[in-house]
Amino acid sequence: MAPVPERGRRLLLERRAARIAAEGHSIEAHPSRASLGPARARRRPHVVALGGGKGGVGKTFLASNLAAELARLGLRTAAVDTDLEGANLHTWLGVTRPAASLADFVAGRETDAAKLLLPTRYERLELVAATHGHLAAAHPSGARRVELLQGLRRLDRDVIVVDCGAGLHPAVIDYFLVGEDGILVIHPEATSLENAYAFLRAAFYRRMQLAMMNHQVQGRVAECMDQRNERGIRTPHDLLREVQSMDSDDARRFVETMRAMRPRIVVNEVSSAEDVRLGFAVRNVCRTYFGLEAEYLGYLNRDEAVRQALREGRPVSEVAPQSDVAIYLRRIARKLVDGIAPAPARAGVHA
Ligand SMILES: Nc1ncnc2c1ncn2[C@@H]1O[C@H](COP(=O)(O)OP(=O)(O)OP(=O)(O)O)[C@@H](O)[C@H]1O
Ligand SMILES: [Mg+2]
Repeated sequence: MAPVPERGRRLLLERRAARIAAEGHSIEAHPSRASLGPARARRRPHVVALGGGKGGVGKTFLASNLAAELARLGLRTAAVDTDLEGANLHTWLGVTRPAASLADFVAGRETDAAKLLLPTRYERLELVAATHGHLAAAHPSGARRVELLQGLRRLDRDVIVVDCGAGLHPAVIDYFLVGEDGILVIHPEATSLENAYAFLRAAFYRRMQLAMMNHQVQGRVAECMDQRNERGIRTPHDLLREVQSMDSDDARRFVETMRAMRPRIVVNEVSSAEDVRLGFAVRNVCRTYFGLEAEYLGYLNRDEAVRQALREGRPVSEVAPQSDVAIYLRRIARKLVDGIAPAPARAGVHA
């Protein structure tokens, strides 16, 4: 057999990495939430990923605090920092010097993702840190990304909370897509919204490209990732029409994939009713522009207790349990738990 050229090999691996990421949402591969068995009996962990495109909107705050809350509610939780360029999930969780890191996996020093799990001071809560990244090559190669995504999916835990970095690098999008629950964290300001839409767009097209089986259609989706493409295909609806004209099976897959993709929205650092309403506006854009049924999971207000929690490396629910931000956070965690396990499985869940 002729050897696969290096560039071809890289592209193949890239596609495989993204495909594994997409397995979390695969319509055929994934049972409906209602049919999920007790959390402990499931073979695969439930993966919740937090992204949003923009830096500093509160992804890591939410990831750390949600993970702590899910663990407190009785789920064996692993909080995974994938931000190799700006790792700080460990700081939020009070782990000052992580003994192992995802960077070890990326560099090939460790091949078992389970060995990266570090204890925290909280029961049922472990951490995969992302410190000590390679300064010149922060993102893992296609091959490593495949192994990493598979490793995360194989961890014997109830929930994996994945903290994504900022930006639209394909690796970041793959980490976001690996989750059954992709939570888009938004700040109530125009720049955050802009970045959030760009992030959604990148995730949408990446997922669609994977769902398509016809090579020509895959190529067309790739072309449309260029917003100024010469064919004049500007919106997901334009693209759907194009796919319909090319391949009816892929057009059906396109619509099914659209239906299966359900981003969750959290607006962080709200300080007015108008900020709160932003979540509904984003949900509407998801429907009208992308054809996606997003869920507005909740909002968190701006609160000095968050910075105090960061200083102390403790969840805000512990630092200021009666603060609004802690109350709203617990509400969001409860909604997620309701989506993860049916009532009987939560018999042992601590209130
Ligand atoms: N609800 C809040 N109230 C007050 N301060 C907040 C709130 N949420 C986040 N912050 C502050 O905003 C800063 C950025 O938060 P965080 O690190 O979670 O953002 P991020 O989205 O993970 O950023 P990056 O993209 O750089 O990883 C932190 O210093 C944090 O204390
Ligand atoms: Mg962060």
